[in-house]
Amino acid sequence: MTKEETYLTLLPQAEALLSGENDLIANMANIAALLHHTFRFWWTGFYRVEGDELVLGPFQGPIACTRIKKGRGVCGTTWLREQTIIVDDVHKFEGHIACSAESNSEIVVPLRKDGQIVAVLDIDSRDFSNFDAIDQLYLEKIMELM
Ligand code: SME
Repeated sequence: MTKEETYLTLLPQAEALLSGENDLIANMANIAALLHHTFRFWWTGFYRVEGDELVLGPFQGPIACTRIKKGRGVCGTTWLREQTIIVDDVHKFEGHIACSAESNSEIVVPLRKDGQIVAVLDIDSRDFSNFDAIDQLYLEKIMELM
């Protein structure tokens, strides 16, 4: 199966998981697990907006830093710029926060509620250049379902 075909089979699963449940933490937990175990990413999880910081939310993978300031790292920069960021080589990203030395590429997608960013989805891979426009397209679709 191509990556796009995998996302296309995953979308109805995500819809089914999210329909009828409006607790955002529960939904973050299930979506992190669904994505992580489908694609076998290195780290998959959410950081929630709390005041001027992002705070660690539901995730799958190794332990991670708990708080990230706005504009810091890939997650904080995504929040600041209000758009998805794809990083082919995290070691070359100015200000990257290395929670794990094993992570080499990353995508961070904002999660909006009523037009406001309430969290970001952060996915890390041990492969370089693991994420592209296909990931962005489908991950943004999944964020719209939440
Ligand atoms: N690498 C992220 C920090 C979060 S961990 O990778 C889970 C960043 O620079 O925002």
